[in-house]
Amino acid sequence: MKIEFYRHDVQPSDINNVVAVLNSLFLTTGEVVSEFEDKFSKYLDCKYTVGVTSCTAALHLSLLAYGMGAGDEVITTPMTFIATANSIIYTGARPVFVDVEPETGNIDADLIEAAVTPRTKAIMPVHLHGQMCDMKRIREIADKPGLVVIEDAAHAIEAVRDGARPVKLGEAACFSFYATKNITSGEGGAIGTNNKQIAEKLMKLRLHGMSKGAAERYSRRYEHWDMEMLGWKYNMDNIQAALLIGQLDRIEKNRERRELICRIYEDAFKNNPRVSMLQVAPGSKSARHMFTIQVAPEKRDDVLWKLQKKGVGVAVNFRAIHLLSYYRQTFGYKRGMFPVAERIGDSTITLPLYPGLSDAEIEYVIRAVNESTAK
Ligand SMILES: Cc1ncc(COP(=O)(O)O)c(C=O)c1O
Repeated sequence: MKIEFYRHDVQPSDINNVVAVLNSLFLTTGEVVSEFEDKFSKYLDCKYTVGVTSCTAALHLSLLAYGMGAGDEVITTPMTFIATANSIIYTGARPVFVDVEPETGNIDADLIEAAVTPRTKAIMPVHLHGQMCDMKRIREIADKPGLVVIEDAAHAIEAVRDGARPVKLGEAACFSFYATKNITSGEGGAIGTNNKQIAEKLMKLRLHGMSKGAAERYSRRYEHWDMEMLGWKYNMDNIQAALLIGQLDRIEKNRERRELICRIYEDAFKNNPRVSMLQVAPGSKSARHMFTIQVAPEKRDDVLWKLQKKGVGVAVNFRAIHLLSYYRQTFGYKRGMFPVAERIGDSTITLPLYPGLSDAEIEYVIRAVNESTAK
């Protein structure tokens, strides 16, 4: 049996939406992007969405919109994809890591205050695997010295914790529509915010800092545009938006299937003494973006390869990023600095998780994991 690590849920109706755009005049940022942005804002219950080309771009622009630059520090987690910390470095600011909770793998709010210095300007929590961080506490901690909170919600579109979704307690939240995400346009991203000025600034920052986009320039009486600030070329296009619009209608139903699969996995592994799992925090609805197991660090790669040999698509999300060469060399990070993130990073394996996974495939994955971890 071959079980892919991920299979997207693009349906014929989504393809028809893309074909309609391809048969239309406007391929770049236009009405279809606006339509997606409005729909995404409604879904998230936030005021504004700005569509961009990736979550990396979303993180970068959000930091810029809040004035991050050289000399500033941004507190984040080493248990994430490199995009989180890299986006901080793009602005000239410095990523400052804080260790994570052993139960969830999310940034440990208890450790944040000790990492705040006079240079700290923002906190960038990451809602790992779809489980939201303790945003209520993080908001309180941020408010004391007046820090900005920019959520990396790449995994967490559907998530809710203590009644709050992404964007609710942060100044901005950033989402990914990368190929393996819960909704996808191959590549793509968005920023959600409730701040009008920031949304307007982001609209300019995503297109070179120009005062008018192509649709605006073309469809009205021609007016010259200005470049008001230095921006980037990060604008989402109508093709990406068309692919996403219909997926949003299925996102909750698909999450229910993900939830069910996770529960089947959890039930199947709870009596395996050589497997442990991260937990969903009380009062939380996880987006269930990824399902990971943890095994003994010295056995991890062996289990990973055994699963691959059995035809199970696997991944590692994530090895702690402070241990990667660039971060060690540039910032002097060393093993031992963030022991919980290191332990998770050394022991974690991501299993297949997507709505199209059949019951027989789920059973096969379970058997393969139990066999691969047996003595
Ligand atoms: C936690 C996290 N943040 C950010 C990103 C970057 O997303 P993108 O590939 O859309 O730039 C990813 C990508 O997988 C991620 O897992």
